[in-house]
Amino acid sequence: MLLRARSGRPLRGRARPPGDKSISHRAVIMGALASGRTEIDGLLRADDVNCTVAAARAFGAEIIDDGGVCAIISAGGFRQPAETIDCGNSGTAARLLIGAASGYRLSARFDGDQSLRRRPMGRVVAPLSQMGARFDTTDNRLPLIVHGGALNGIMYRSPVSSAQVKSAVLLAGLRAAGETVLIEPERSRDHTERMLAVFGADIDTVEIDGVLHPRVRASALKAARIYVPADPSSAAFPIAAALIVKGSDVRIQDVLVNPLRLGLYETLLEMGAKLTYEEARDPIGEPIADVAARTSALVGVTPPPRRAPSMIDEFPILAVVAAFAEGETRITGAAELRLKESDRIALMVDGLRACGVDAEELPDGLIVRGKGPKSVRGGAHIRTHGDHRVAMSFLVLGLASRDPVTVDDADMIATSFPGFTAFMQSLGADIAAA
Ligand code: S3P
Repeated sequence: MLLRARSGRPLRGRARPPGDKSISHRAVIMGALASGRTEIDGLLRADDVNCTVAAARAFGAEIIDDGGVCAIISAGGFRQPAETIDCGNSGTAARLLIGAASGYRLSARFDGDQSLRRRPMGRVVAPLSQMGARFDTTDNRLPLIVHGGALNGIMYRSPVSSAQVKSAVLLAGLRAAGETVLIEPERSRDHTERMLAVFGADIDTVEIDGVLHPRVRASALKAARIYVPADPSSAAFPIAAALIVKGSDVRIQDVLVNPLRLGLYETLLEMGAKLTYEEARDPIGEPIADVAARTSALVGVTPPPRRAPSMIDEFPILAVVAAFAEGETRITGAAELRLKESDRIALMVDGLRACGVDAEELPDGLIVRGKGPKSVRGGAHIRTHGDHRVAMSFLVLGLASRDPVTVDDADMIATSFPGFTAFMQSLGADIAAA
Protein backbone atom coordinates (compact mmCIF):
# COMPACT_ATOMS: atom_id res chain seq x y z
CA MET A 1 0.00 0.00 0.00
CA LEU A 2 1.13 3.54 -0.82
CA LEU A 3 0.85 6.14 1.95
CA ARG A 4 1.02 9.92 1.68
CA ALA A 5 1.84 12.44 4.41
CA ARG A 6 1.35 16.18 4.16
CA SER A 7 1.57 19.18 6.43
CA GLY A 8 -1.57 20.56 7.98
CA ARG A 9 -2.69 20.82 11.54
CA PRO A 10 -0.39 20.78 14.57
CA LEU A 11 -0.12 17.49 16.46
CA ARG A 12 -1.93 17.54 19.76
CA GLY A 13 -3.22 15.12 22.36
CA ARG A 14 -2.24 12.00 24.25
CA ALA A 15 -1.78 8.48 22.99
CA ARG A 16 -0.09 5.21 23.92
CA PRO A 17 1.92 3.38 21.24
CA PRO A 18 1.87 -0.44 21.09
CA GLY A 19 4.02 -2.60 23.35
CA ASP A 20 7.80 -2.79 23.19
CA LYS A 21 9.00 -5.16 20.51
CA SER A 22 12.20 -6.27 22.24
CA ILE A 23 10.40 -7.06 25.50
CA SER A 24 7.59 -8.84 23.65
CA HIS A 25 9.95 -11.21 21.81
CA ARG A 26 11.79 -12.01 25.03
CA ALA A 27 8.63 -12.58 27.07
CA VAL A 28 7.32 -15.09 24.52
CA ILE A 29 10.64 -16.95 24.24
CA MET A 30 11.24 -17.11 27.98
CA GLY A 31 7.60 -18.07 28.55
CA ALA A 32 8.10 -21.03 26.21
CA LEU A 33 11.35 -21.99 27.97
CA ALA A 34 9.83 -21.73 31.46
CA SER A 35 7.69 -24.33 33.20
CA GLY A 36 4.16 -23.24 34.08
CA ARG A 37 1.81 -20.52 32.83
CA THR A 38 3.39 -17.22 31.84
CA GLU A 39 1.06 -14.27 31.36
CA ILE A 40 2.03 -11.32 29.19
CA ASP A 41 0.02 -8.13 29.53
CA GLY A 42 0.41 -5.66 26.65
CA LEU A 43 2.15 -8.02 24.21
CA LEU A 44 2.90 -6.32 20.87
CA ARG A 45 0.77 -7.99 18.19
CA ALA A 46 2.93 -7.13 15.20
CA ASP A 47 4.21 -9.32 12.39
CA ASP A 48 7.69 -9.68 13.95
CA VAL A 49 6.39 -10.85 17.31
CA ASN A 50 3.75 -13.04 15.64
CA CYS A 51 6.64 -14.98 14.12
CA THR A 52 8.09 -15.56 17.59
CA VAL A 53 4.67 -16.66 18.88
CA ALA A 54 4.35 -19.15 16.01
CA ALA A 55 7.89 -20.37 16.70
CA ALA A 56 7.15 -20.86 20.40
CA ARG A 57 4.16 -23.02 19.41
CA ALA A 58 6.33 -24.99 16.98
CA PHE A 59 8.82 -25.60 19.80
CA GLY A 60 6.03 -27.08 21.92
CA ALA A 61 4.44 -24.29 23.98
CA GLU A 62 0.67 -23.86 24.19
CA ILE A 63 -0.31 -20.24 23.61
CA ILE A 64 -3.73 -18.82 24.40
CA ASP A 65 -4.11 -15.36 22.92
CA ASP A 66 -7.49 -13.73 22.46
CA GLY A 67 -6.03 -10.22 22.24
CA GLY A 68 -6.02 -9.57 26.00
CA VAL A 69 -3.44 -11.01 28.35
CA CYS A 70 -1.49 -13.64 26.40
CA ALA A 71 -0.91 -16.93 28.23
CA ILE A 72 2.00 -19.24 27.43
CA ILE A 73 1.83 -22.69 28.94
CA SER A 74 4.90 -24.85 28.77
CA ALA A 75 6.32 -27.92 30.40
CA GLY A 76 9.67 -26.09 30.26
CA GLY A 77 12.09 -26.15 27.34
CA PHE A 78 11.96 -26.52 23.55
CA ARG A 79 10.91 -29.69 21.73
CA GLN A 80 11.74 -30.85 18.21
CA PRO A 81 9.67 -28.69 15.83
CA ALA A 82 7.78 -30.37 13.01
CA GLU A 83 8.19 -27.48 10.59
CA THR A 84 10.65 -24.76 9.54
CA ILE A 85 10.79 -21.79 11.93
CA ASP A 86 9.79 -18.83 9.78
CA CYS A 87 11.19 -15.62 11.28
CA GLY A 88 9.69 -13.38 8.63
CA ASN A 89 11.40 -9.97 8.67
CA SER A 90 12.67 -10.27 12.25
CA GLY A 91 16.37 -10.43 13.12
CA THR A 92 15.49 -10.54 16.81
CA ALA A 93 13.23 -13.58 16.36
CA ALA A 94 15.88 -15.40 14.34
CA ARG A 95 18.90 -14.70 16.51
CA LEU A 96 17.24 -15.15 19.92
CA LEU A 97 15.40 -18.31 18.91
CA ILE A 98 18.54 -19.83 17.38
CA GLY A 99 20.33 -19.16 20.69
CA ALA A 100 17.51 -20.61 22.79
CA ALA A 101 17.16 -23.71 20.57
CA SER A 102 20.90 -24.44 20.70
CA GLY A 103 20.65 -25.88 24.20
CA TYR A 104 18.15 -28.62 23.31
CA ARG A 105 18.58 -31.98 21.59
CA LEU A 106 16.78 -31.01 18.41
CA SER A 107 17.42 -29.96 14.86
CA ALA A 108 15.55 -26.87 13.71
CA ARG A 109 15.53 -25.17 10.35
CA PHE A 110 15.26 -21.37 10.42
CA ASP A 111 14.24 -19.19 7.51
CA GLY A 112 13.00 -15.66 6.84
CA ASP A 113 11.94 -13.20 4.17
CA GLN A 114 14.22 -11.79 1.46
CA SER A 115 15.51 -9.03 3.76
CA LEU A 116 16.27 -11.38 6.65
CA ARG A 117 17.96 -13.88 4.30
CA ARG A 118 20.50 -11.16 3.49
CA ARG A 119 21.35 -10.38 7.11
CA PRO A 120 24.40 -11.91 8.86
CA MET A 121 23.85 -14.88 11.18
CA GLY A 122 27.57 -15.64 11.60
CA ARG A 123 27.51 -13.31 14.60
CA VAL A 124 25.44 -15.91 16.51
CA VAL A 125 26.70 -19.03 14.72
CA ALA A 126 30.28 -18.27 15.89
CA PRO A 127 29.69 -18.12 19.68
CA LEU A 128 27.02 -20.85 19.66
CA SER A 129 29.39 -23.17 17.74
CA GLN A 130 32.06 -22.48 20.37
CA MET A 131 29.52 -23.56 22.97
CA GLY A 132 28.94 -26.86 21.13
CA ALA A 133 25.96 -26.30 18.80
CA ARG A 134 26.34 -27.41 15.18
CA PHE A 135 25.04 -25.60 12.13
CA ASP A 136 24.25 -26.49 8.53
CA THR A 137 24.70 -23.23 6.65
CA THR A 138 26.36 -22.30 3.41
CA ASP A 139 27.18 -18.65 4.02
CA ASN A 140 26.09 -17.98 7.61
CA ARG A 141 22.75 -16.70 6.39
CA LEU A 142 19.21 -18.04 6.49
CA PRO A 143 18.01 -20.61 5.78
CA LEU A 144 20.14 -22.57 8.24
CA ILE A 145 19.71 -25.62 10.46
CA VAL A 146 20.81 -25.64 14.09
CA HIS A 147 21.59 -28.96 15.77
CA GLY A 148 21.40 -28.29 19.50
CA GLY A 149 22.54 -30.37 22.42
CA ALA A 150 24.96 -30.39 25.31
CA LEU A 151 26.65 -27.00 25.55
CA ASN A 152 29.61 -25.61 27.43
CA GLY A 153 29.63 -22.15 28.94
CA ILE A 154 32.03 -19.63 27.40
CA MET A 155 33.36 -16.17 28.01
CA TYR A 156 32.55 -14.53 24.70
CA ARG A 157 33.96 -11.20 23.53
CA SER A 158 31.47 -10.06 20.94
CA PRO A 159 33.02 -7.91 18.21
CA VAL A 160 29.75 -5.95 17.93
CA SER A 161 27.52 -4.29 20.50
CA SER A 162 24.40 -6.27 19.71
CA ALA A 163 21.65 -7.19 22.13
CA GLN A 164 20.62 -9.93 19.71
CA VAL A 165 24.05 -11.59 19.92
CA LYS A 166 24.21 -11.08 23.68
CA SER A 167 20.73 -12.54 24.14
CA ALA A 168 21.41 -15.55 21.91
CA VAL A 169 24.49 -16.43 23.96
CA LEU A 170 22.81 -15.86 27.34
CA LEU A 171 19.76 -17.93 26.36
CA ALA A 172 22.07 -20.75 25.24
CA GLY A 173 23.93 -20.29 28.53
CA LEU A 174 20.79 -21.35 30.40
CA ARG A 175 21.54 -24.90 29.23
CA ALA A 176 25.34 -24.82 29.27
CA ALA A 177 27.72 -26.44 31.74
CA GLY A 178 29.61 -23.88 33.81
CA GLU A 179 29.12 -20.17 33.38
CA THR A 180 28.57 -18.02 30.31
CA VAL A 181 29.80 -14.43 30.21
CA LEU A 182 29.17 -11.96 27.41
CA ILE A 183 31.50 -9.01 26.84
CA GLU A 184 30.56 -6.34 24.31
CA PRO A 185 32.31 -3.12 23.24
CA GLU A 186 29.48 -0.82 24.45
CA ARG A 187 26.47 -1.95 26.43
CA SER A 188 23.44 -2.82 24.34
CA ARG A 189 19.86 -2.98 25.63
CA ASP A 190 19.63 -5.20 28.72
CA HIS A 191 16.05 -6.49 28.60
CA THR A 192 17.22 -10.12 28.41
CA GLU A 193 19.28 -9.77 31.57
CA ARG A 194 16.45 -8.02 33.43
CA MET A 195 13.81 -10.49 32.30
CA LEU A 196 15.93 -13.60 32.96
CA ALA A 197 16.07 -12.50 36.60
CA VAL A 198 12.25 -12.20 36.64
CA PHE A 199 11.98 -15.77 35.27
CA GLY A 200 14.25 -16.99 38.09
CA ALA A 201 17.48 -17.59 36.14
CA ASP A 202 20.83 -17.70 37.87
CA ILE A 203 22.11 -14.44 36.36
CA ASP A 204 24.37 -11.74 37.74
CA THR A 205 27.25 -9.58 36.56
CA VAL A 206 30.99 -10.00 36.69
CA GLU A 207 33.53 -7.16 36.67
CA ILE A 208 36.21 -7.40 34.01
CA ASP A 209 38.64 -4.51 33.49
CA GLY A 210 36.42 -2.26 35.59
CA VAL A 211 33.24 -2.94 33.56
CA LEU A 212 30.29 -5.13 34.56
CA HIS A 213 29.25 -7.87 32.11
CA PRO A 214 26.31 -10.31 32.33
CA ARG A 215 26.98 -13.85 33.52
CA VAL A 216 24.50 -16.72 33.49
CA ARG A 217 24.65 -20.29 34.78
CA ALA A 218 22.46 -23.25 33.84
CA SER A 219 18.95 -22.56 35.11
CA ALA A 220 15.42 -23.88 34.82
CA LEU A 221 13.11 -20.90 34.21
CA LYS A 222 9.83 -20.58 36.08
CA ALA A 223 6.72 -18.98 34.59
CA ALA A 224 6.30 -15.26 35.30
CA ARG A 225 3.87 -12.37 34.79
CA ILE A 226 5.20 -9.74 32.41
CA TYR A 227 3.88 -6.25 31.65
CA VAL A 228 5.00 -4.75 28.34
CA PRO A 229 5.26 -0.93 28.32
CA ALA A 230 4.96 1.08 25.09
CA ASP A 231 7.89 0.88 22.69
CA PRO A 232 10.24 3.90 22.81
CA SER A 233 11.33 3.08 19.25
CA SER A 234 7.71 3.51 18.09
CA ALA A 235 7.11 6.53 20.37
CA ALA A 236 10.04 8.18 18.60
CA PHE A 237 7.90 8.85 15.50
CA PRO A 238 5.07 10.89 17.06
CA ILE A 239 7.59 12.63 19.33
CA ALA A 240 9.80 13.59 16.39
CA ALA A 241 6.74 14.76 14.45
CA ALA A 242 5.66 16.99 17.35
CA LEU A 243 9.11 18.59 17.47
CA ILE A 244 9.08 19.58 13.79
CA VAL A 245 5.38 20.30 13.08
CA LYS A 246 4.52 23.90 14.05
CA GLY A 247 2.28 24.43 17.08
CA SER A 248 2.42 20.81 18.32
CA ASP A 249 2.12 19.59 21.89
CA VAL A 250 1.77 15.84 22.56
CA ARG A 251 2.06 13.45 25.46
CA ILE A 252 3.07 9.90 24.54
CA GLN A 253 2.05 7.62 27.36
CA ASP A 254 3.45 4.62 29.22
CA VAL A 255 6.77 4.58 27.35
CA LEU A 256 9.62 2.24 28.32
CA VAL A 257 12.46 4.57 29.39
CA ASN A 258 15.24 2.06 29.99
CA PRO A 259 18.43 4.19 29.76
CA LEU A 260 19.92 1.78 27.21
CA ARG A 261 17.08 2.71 24.83
CA LEU A 262 17.18 6.50 25.25
CA GLY A 263 20.04 7.57 22.97
CA LEU A 264 17.67 9.35 20.59
CA TYR A 265 15.96 11.22 23.41
CA GLU A 266 19.33 12.33 24.85
CA THR A 267 20.36 13.53 21.42
CA LEU A 268 17.11 15.40 20.85
CA LEU A 269 17.55 17.17 24.20
CA GLU A 270 21.04 18.24 23.09
CA MET A 271 19.48 19.60 19.89
CA GLY A 272 17.20 21.80 21.99
CA ALA A 273 14.05 19.67 21.98
CA LYS A 274 11.31 20.57 24.41
CA LEU A 275 11.00 17.08 25.77
CA THR A 276 10.12 16.06 29.32
CA TYR A 277 9.59 12.77 31.14
CA GLU A 278 6.47 12.84 33.30
CA GLU A 279 5.21 10.48 36.00
CA ALA A 280 8.30 8.26 35.93
CA ARG A 281 7.64 4.88 37.58
CA ASP A 282 9.18 1.40 37.79
CA PRO A 283 6.51 -1.18 38.56
CA ILE A 284 8.05 -4.11 36.67
CA GLY A 285 11.85 -4.00 36.76
CA GLU A 286 11.84 -1.71 33.69
CA PRO A 287 11.39 2.08 34.02
CA ILE A 288 8.30 3.68 32.43
CA ALA A 289 7.26 7.34 31.90
CA ASP A 290 5.05 9.55 29.77
CA VAL A 291 7.07 11.62 27.27
CA ALA A 292 5.80 15.12 26.50
CA ALA A 293 7.06 16.93 23.38
CA ARG A 294 6.41 20.38 21.91
CA THR A 295 7.52 22.09 18.71
CA SER A 296 11.13 23.15 19.15
CA ALA A 297 13.85 25.24 17.52
CA LEU A 298 16.59 22.65 16.96
CA VAL A 299 20.31 22.78 16.23
CA GLY A 300 22.50 20.15 14.59
CA VAL A 301 24.64 17.92 16.85
CA THR A 302 27.29 15.21 16.72
CA PRO A 303 26.17 12.36 18.98
CA PRO A 304 29.14 10.42 20.42
CA PRO A 305 29.71 7.15 18.52
CA ARG A 306 29.51 5.15 21.77
CA ARG A 307 25.86 6.20 22.04
CA ALA A 308 24.97 4.27 18.88
CA PRO A 309 23.79 1.03 20.54
CA SER A 310 21.25 2.94 22.66
CA MET A 311 19.68 4.54 19.58
CA ILE A 312 20.41 1.98 16.89
CA ASP A 313 16.83 1.82 15.59
CA GLU A 314 16.31 5.57 15.86
CA PHE A 315 18.93 6.89 13.41
CA PRO A 316 16.45 7.08 10.50
CA ILE A 317 14.10 9.35 12.45
CA LEU A 318 17.04 11.34 13.86
CA ALA A 319 18.20 11.98 10.30
CA VAL A 320 14.75 13.38 9.48
CA VAL A 321 14.66 15.62 12.56
CA ALA A 322 18.18 16.83 11.70
CA ALA A 323 16.90 18.10 8.35
CA PHE A 324 14.65 20.56 10.23
CA ALA A 325 17.45 21.72 12.59
CA GLU A 326 19.90 24.57 11.94
CA GLY A 327 23.37 23.23 11.18
CA GLU A 328 25.14 19.97 10.66
CA THR A 329 24.26 16.67 12.35
CA ARG A 330 27.06 14.13 12.01
CA ILE A 331 26.29 10.50 12.83
CA THR A 332 29.24 8.10 13.11
CA GLY A 333 29.89 4.74 14.77
CA ALA A 334 26.72 3.37 13.20
CA ALA A 335 28.03 0.94 10.55
CA GLU A 336 25.48 -1.59 11.90
CA LEU A 337 22.81 0.48 10.13
CA ARG A 338 23.88 -1.09 6.86
CA LEU A 339 22.92 -4.53 8.25
CA LYS A 340 19.39 -3.75 9.41
CA GLU A 341 16.14 -4.48 7.55
CA SER A 342 17.74 -2.43 4.75
CA ASP A 343 20.96 -0.45 4.31
CA ARG A 344 19.54 2.41 6.33
CA ILE A 345 22.46 4.75 5.65
CA ALA A 346 22.05 4.54 1.88
CA LEU A 347 18.24 4.69 1.93
CA MET A 348 18.03 7.64 4.32
CA VAL A 349 20.56 9.69 2.35
CA ASP A 350 18.80 8.88 -0.96
CA GLY A 351 15.39 9.80 0.44
CA LEU A 352 16.57 12.98 2.16
CA ARG A 353 18.23 14.18 -1.04
CA ALA A 354 15.05 13.44 -2.98
CA CYS A 355 13.27 15.72 -0.48
CA GLY A 356 15.75 18.55 -1.12
CA VAL A 357 17.88 17.99 2.00
CA ASP A 358 21.69 18.27 1.94
CA ALA A 359 22.79 14.81 3.13
CA GLU A 360 25.90 12.70 2.66
CA GLU A 361 26.84 9.07 3.30
CA LEU A 362 29.76 8.11 5.53
CA PRO A 363 31.02 4.51 5.73
CA ASP A 364 29.65 4.28 9.30
CA GLY A 365 26.99 6.97 9.36
CA LEU A 366 25.75 10.07 7.62
CA ILE A 367 25.84 13.85 7.65
CA VAL A 368 22.68 15.94 7.42
CA ARG A 369 23.07 19.68 6.91
CA GLY A 370 19.84 21.17 8.20
CA LYS A 371 18.64 24.62 7.21
CA GLY A 372 15.82 25.10 9.66
CA PRO A 373 12.11 24.34 9.95
CA LYS A 374 10.85 25.80 6.67
CA SER A 375 13.70 24.58 4.48
CA VAL A 376 12.57 21.03 3.60
CA ARG A 377 10.85 20.72 0.24
CA GLY A 378 9.60 17.13 0.43
CA GLY A 379 7.56 16.27 -2.64
CA ALA A 380 9.29 12.93 -3.20
CA HIS A 381 8.19 9.34 -3.69
CA ILE A 382 10.36 7.34 -1.27
CA ARG A 383 11.76 3.87 -1.91
CA THR A 384 11.71 2.01 1.41
CA HIS A 385 13.02 -1.41 0.30
CA GLY A 386 10.40 -2.84 2.65
CA ASP A 387 11.95 -1.17 5.71
CA HIS A 388 9.30 -0.17 8.27
CA ARG A 389 11.40 2.46 10.03
CA VAL A 390 12.44 4.12 6.77
CA ALA A 391 8.76 4.32 5.80
CA MET A 392 7.65 5.87 9.11
CA SER A 393 10.58 8.31 9.11
CA PHE A 394 9.70 9.77 5.71
CA LEU A 395 6.02 9.96 6.56
CA VAL A 396 7.01 12.09 9.57
CA LEU A 397 9.13 14.25 7.25
CA GLY A 398 6.09 14.74 5.01
CA LEU A 399 4.12 16.17 7.95
CA ALA A 400 6.47 19.16 8.09
CA SER A 401 7.76 19.58 4.53
CA ARG A 402 6.36 22.06 1.97
CA ASP A 403 5.12 19.37 -0.44
CA PRO A 404 3.57 15.97 0.45
CA VAL A 405 5.70 12.81 0.62
CA THR A 406 4.63 9.32 -0.45
CA VAL A 407 6.23 6.01 0.54
CA ASP A 408 6.16 3.03 -1.79
CA ASP A 409 5.39 0.26 0.68
CA ALA A 410 3.67 1.03 3.95
CA ASP A 411 2.55 -2.55 4.66
CA MET A 412 5.84 -3.39 6.38
CA ILE A 413 5.04 -0.84 9.12
CA ALA A 414 2.95 -3.65 10.64
CA THR A 415 6.16 -5.51 11.52
CA SER A 416 6.70 -3.13 14.45
CA PHE A 417 3.93 -0.50 14.71
CA PRO A 418 0.51 -1.87 13.79
CA GLY A 419 -2.02 0.96 13.62
CA PHE A 420 0.66 3.59 12.93
CA THR A 421 -1.53 5.58 10.53
CA ALA A 422 -4.55 5.66 12.86
CA PHE A 423 -2.27 6.49 15.80
CA MET A 424 -0.77 9.49 13.99
CA GLN A 425 -4.19 10.57 12.70
CA SER A 426 -5.50 10.54 16.29
CA LEU A 427 -2.94 13.25 17.07
CA GLY A 428 -4.01 15.27 14.04
CA ALA A 429 -1.50 14.09 11.42
CA ASP A 430 -2.55 14.11 7.78
CA ILE A 431 -1.42 10.63 6.68
CA ALA A 432 -3.62 8.64 4.30
CA ALA A 433 -3.61 6.13 1.47
CA ALA A 434 -2.16 7.70 -1.68
C1 S3P B 1 17.06 -5.71 19.22
C2 S3P B 1 18.38 -5.35 19.10
C3 S3P B 1 18.88 -4.46 18.05
C4 S3P B 1 17.76 -3.71 17.36
C5 S3P B 1 16.57 -4.58 17.05
C6 S3P B 1 16.03 -5.19 18.33
C7 S3P B 1 16.69 -6.63 20.29
O1 S3P B 1 19.59 -5.22 17.09
O2 S3P B 1 18.22 -3.11 16.17
O3 S3P B 1 15.55 -3.84 16.43
O4 S3P B 1 15.49 -6.76 20.62
O5 S3P B 1 17.58 -7.28 20.87
P1 S3P B 1 21.14 -5.58 17.33
O6 S3P B 1 21.21 -6.22 18.64
O7 S3P B 1 21.53 -6.52 16.24
O8 S3P B 1 21.86 -4.27 17.24
